[in-house]
Amino acid sequence: MHENYMKLALKLAEKGRGKVSPNPMVGAVIVKENKVIGKGYHKGYGEAHAEVKAFENSTEDIKGADLYVTLEPCSHYGKTPPCVDKIIHRKIKRVFIGCLDPNPLVSGKGVKKLIDSGIEVTTGILEKECRELNEVFMKYIVEKKPFVIMKTAMSLDGKIATKTGDSKWITGLRSRKNVHRLRNEVSGIMVGINTVIADNPELTCRIENGNNPIRIIVDSKLRIPIDSKVLDNQNLAKTIVATTGQADMTKKVEIEKKGVKVLTIKSLEGKVDLQKLMSKLAEENIDSILLEGGATLNFSALEQQIVDKVQVYIAPKIIGGEKSKTSVGGSGIEDLRKAFQLHRISYKTIDEDILIEGYIRW
Ligand SMILES: NC(=O)c1ccc[n+]([C@@H]2O[C@H](COP(=O)([O-])OP(=O)(O)OC[C@H]3O[C@@H](n4cnc5c(N)ncnc54)[C@H](OP(=O)(O)O)[C@@H]3O)[C@@H](O)[C@H]2O)c1
Repeated sequence: MHENYMKLALKLAEKGRGKVSPNPMVGAVIVKENKVIGKGYHKGYGEAHAEVKAFENSTEDIKGADLYVTLEPCSHYGKTPPCVDKIIHRKIKRVFIGCLDPNPLVSGKGVKKLIDSGIEVTTGILEKECRELNEVFMKYIVEKKPFVIMKTAMSLDGKIATKTGDSKWITGLRSRKNVHRLRNEVSGIMVGINTVIADNPELTCRIENGNNPIRIIVDSKLRIPIDSKVLDNQNLAKTIVATTGQADMTKKVEIEKKGVKVLTIKSLEGKVDLQKLMSKLAEENIDSILLEGGATLNFSALEQQIVDKVQVYIAPKIIGGEKSKTSVGGSGIEDLRKAFQLHRISYKTIDEDILIEGYIRW
């Protein structure tokens, strides 16, 4: 019974996907005498919290009712006043919580305040599902770094382009639509400078009413052509170019004149230090990044341990060619025991393609 109400709260929370960043997605359900009398979810950054929305939407007096909420109610003043005070004030009888707030500064404090005021509290209802829902928030709050999803689309033989560089398109339409849906949900999209030079991509989200993520170009020496599409149209989609002290200052000024932010990051072996870059991007409120290659940046991202999740689309095609690029390049590993191992793996078919997803535990 508790799980069913929490499932409903999870479903509500899901409605905030792509809209609440860098806040968590949260859903809440109010139940009285086995009847749902209120539902709410966090709709957008800075907007009312799920519990408050459920109170507002309730069809009956909520005094003595049960509250189901996917994330521990907040006990501190943020953009809105603490939810626990409202729960106490509205005389809720029992509170069922999916998972505790991951923020070590506040985790457990909401629960304590509720218990201290005489409310019965149960935690851990569908905890795994509630934590997974907010995998981005969990990393962002605890590590102050964005959650990185490395996405590649390749042929059966692991190629991302032919030997002449032709890569449009390896996977089918539905797989590509899936990627655009993900672009709509993340706050940043990142590529290496060679990809910009070779393909001149727009890196925008091409679904109706979709949000464009901030475009992040990793370019240690500012080799980016000044007429690149990613430097244009900053009203449509913002761009950050991450560079190092090796960059030419005149070029930096020229790029900045286009409204583009240039971040100078410490270098690591002559290239942008990706861990340092992640910390800087978190300061820019970027909580999630879709890494779309190329092969060189993908390997560095794995080597420097910034990748959390991997999404590989495999198309039933064979391309061949020693010179055709694979999805991960760089120097590669030597010892198979040191291969980057995926965990919590799932597989699904999308028309003729296969999508394999998994997580990397560092
Ligand atoms: N089919 C697909 O899905 C797909 C997706 C993406 C790309 N591609 C293809 O991949 C090709 C480009 O891939 P690529 O491997 O040559 O290059 P890349 O990964 O796009 O860019 C690598 C470059 O980024 C710069 N960089 C800065 N900091 C870095 C760091 N920490 N680690 C790694 N690189 C860093 C380096 O240049 P500096 O030293 O000058 O900074 C490096 O050479 C293109 O042909 C493109 O079409 C295909």
